[in-house]
Amino acid sequence: MWKAVILIGGPDKGTRFRPLSLDVPKPIFPVAGIPMIQHHIEACSKVPEIKEVNLIGFFHYTEMLKSFITMAKQKYSLSIKYLSEYGPLGTAGGLYHFRDQILSGTPEAFFVFNSDVCCNFPLSDILHFHQSKNGDNRITIVATEATHSESMSYGCLVEDENTNEATHYVEKPETFVSSLINCGVYVFTPDVLRCYMAEVFRQHQEESLEMGMGDSNFPDAIKLETEILAGYAGSGKMFVYKTKEIWGQIKSAASAIHANKLYLSVYRRTKPEVLAKKNPDGPIIRGDVFIHESASVDPTAVLGPNVTLGENVEIGAGVRVSNSIVLSGAKLNDHCCVLNTIIGWKCKVGEWSRVEGTAQQPDPNAPYSKIISGQLFNEDGRLIPSITVLGREVDVAPEIIILNSIVLPNKNIHANSKNQIIL
Ligand code: GDD
Ligand code: GTP
Repeated sequence: MWKAVILIGGPDKGTRFRPLSLDVPKPIFPVAGIPMIQHHIEACSKVPEIKEVNLIGFFHYTEMLKSFITMAKQKYSLSIKYLSEYGPLGTAGGLYHFRDQILSGTPEAFFVFNSDVCCNFPLSDILHFHQSKNGDNRITIVATEATHSESMSYGCLVEDENTNEATHYVEKPETFVSSLINCGVYVFTPDVLRCYMAEVFRQHQEESLEMGMGDSNFPDAIKLETEILAGYAGSGKMFVYKTKEIWGQIKSAASAIHANKLYLSVYRRTKPEVLAKKNPDGPIIRGDVFIHESASVDPTAVLGPNVTLGENVEIGAGVRVSNSIVLSGAKLNDHCCVLNTIIGWKCKVGEWSRVEGTAQQPDPNAPYSKIISGQLFNEDGRLIPSITVLGREVDVAPEIIILNSIVLPNKNIHANSKNQIIL
């Protein structure tokens, strides 16, 4: 039997995702029509060996999280639990803290996922790869190629290609180490928790007592990347599974739009029936478009490529939407145009208005390039042109232009804006 753990973080994470993460915990923000971590759970449900998924984080266990878990349990017939950390215990502190729950029922091994990655999760292959290696205390780490410059924003790995052993690991190095990066998907054999992490935890306790930090807020916090993986590299017990499949991080609105595109391309290959079909009676569909069954779209609208319309979205006559996510309950009135934007829940965009952002794409001339989610502002304190985001229940009047802007929830917009944060 196998298990899975998804590290969902907590409310102080996902800052680059504001204002969208003010309304929903980032891990359940919808990408390609379903919450971000539902993609992880769906992948787990396809692997017969995986019987249980634990979400570890420090969000309050709100109605929203509760109803997501209830829905996912029913839909995927998996045991799914939320294990709540008392504070940010880091990427490995929660694993150690909840070791008894994770190891109950004596799983052979368990997957660990970062919640904010988009991937088509070849879990059966990874499982067989992990089983093919020897050793009680082993870790498999899923990796992909990045460009030289972008690699330094991730965990970097050096691999012995003959044995697949990870010989070196550096988290977000300052100078180039390797173009092979950590995808935030791992497999652990139980003894890693029982032995190696237990030892790291014990050292922490000693250090904090010696340094008089016994009262510090989170003495149990452990960083997986720097305290476990870096130490494990070169031990002959950490193996690299390389994937050439789609992969990306979801840190900012721009990377969510890109992840939406990647997931829609996976749907095109694996379940094309969920994508909108071209139909002579309209609407006009360009490329990959996902329309929730409850959405209503005027036949004269033009949608795509890379568009997702959520539950109960209404799209009027002559509306154009491209490279955008429109969240549930939003209404795009006749002849408005929405490009490179995330339209928040229950927003309204008036007739003939134009809401437009600047798309961010991986560098098309650099193989393996990914979107880097940098800061929102440049050195002069100006907003860097990017995807436009309308927070929940924003109401845009007719004939307004909003360009490269971030609009906080519940605003009524009656004036044009460009490169602004509307507070
Ligand atoms: N439960 C819990 N508790 N989860 C946490 C905590 C915590 O205290 N801190 C972070 N996480 C979760 C986040 O929600 C996210 O899913 C994951 O752990 C990693 O988050 P970050 O700590 O923000 O790291 P990162 O995304 O910048 O980098 C990590 O992911 C990259 C791939 O996307 C590293 O693992 C890199 O090495 C890796 O390349
Ligand atoms: P580039 O700027 O060179 O990328 O041109 P483009 O037309 O390919 O891209 P743009 O992002 O400007 O527009 C994307 C799609 O939206 C195109 O199919 C346009 O025809 C359409 N479009 C752009 N502006 C409007 C508008 O104001 N109304 C409507 N209905 N469609 C528009």
